Amino acid sequence: MKKIISHAAEQTLDLGKQIGKTVSSPFAIALRGDLGAGKTTLVQGLAKGLGVDDNYYITSPTFNIINEYPAKETRLCHLDLYRLGSADELEYIGFDDLGGPDAVIVVEWPGFLEEMQFEFDLEIKFEFDTDYNRVISLFPSGHKGVNLVSKLFL
Ligand SMILES: Nc1ncnc2c1ncn2[C@@H]1O[C@H](COP(=O)(O)OP(=O)(O)OP(=O)(O)O)[C@@H](O)[C@H]1O
Ligand SMILES: [Mg+2]
Repeated sequence: MKKIISHAAEQTLDLGKQIGKTVSSPFAIALRGDLGAGKTTLVQGLAKGLGVDDNYYITSPTFNIINEYPAKETRLCHLDLYRLGSADELEYIGFDDLGGPDAVIVVEWPGFLEEMQFEFDLEIKFEFDTDYNRVISLFPSGHKGVNLVSKLFL
């Protein structure tokens, strides 16, 4: 497990960007942490690193649940399951069609997917410290996750 302290949104963006530049698809990332902790901020950096066009503005897909963005060699699939009522609803939002060899999947509020034993290559946990910095911990699983984290300059 690796841990960094992010003192500003810029730093969280940079971490996302580094992950985006390093990751190869297919890859799945779970983001956990309270409201406003910085999950979407990290995804904005991830999009930059993957080469998603700057004209796309990355926001939390809270209402449509899934947003997809074409990237250079991959496809960024950004999910926010905050408003999902149950794991059954995953089928209706088209989760089953989401994967594929070119997909980088990143999920805010991943609880229902974890319940279904969906396997993430990397879990990123955001916590506030007493000064409102973000403590960001990376928990890779499997060789793809471990390999990615070992390549990051943290
Ligand atoms: N160190 C930091 N890292 C990330 N964001 C920060 C940091 N410091 C301040 N911020 C600010 O905190 C806010 C984080 O919002 P963001 O939308 O990324 O949170 P979120 O975890 O996606 O929340 P939600 O669960 O509501 O989707 C932004 O306004 C960002 O500018
Ligand atoms: Mg968000």
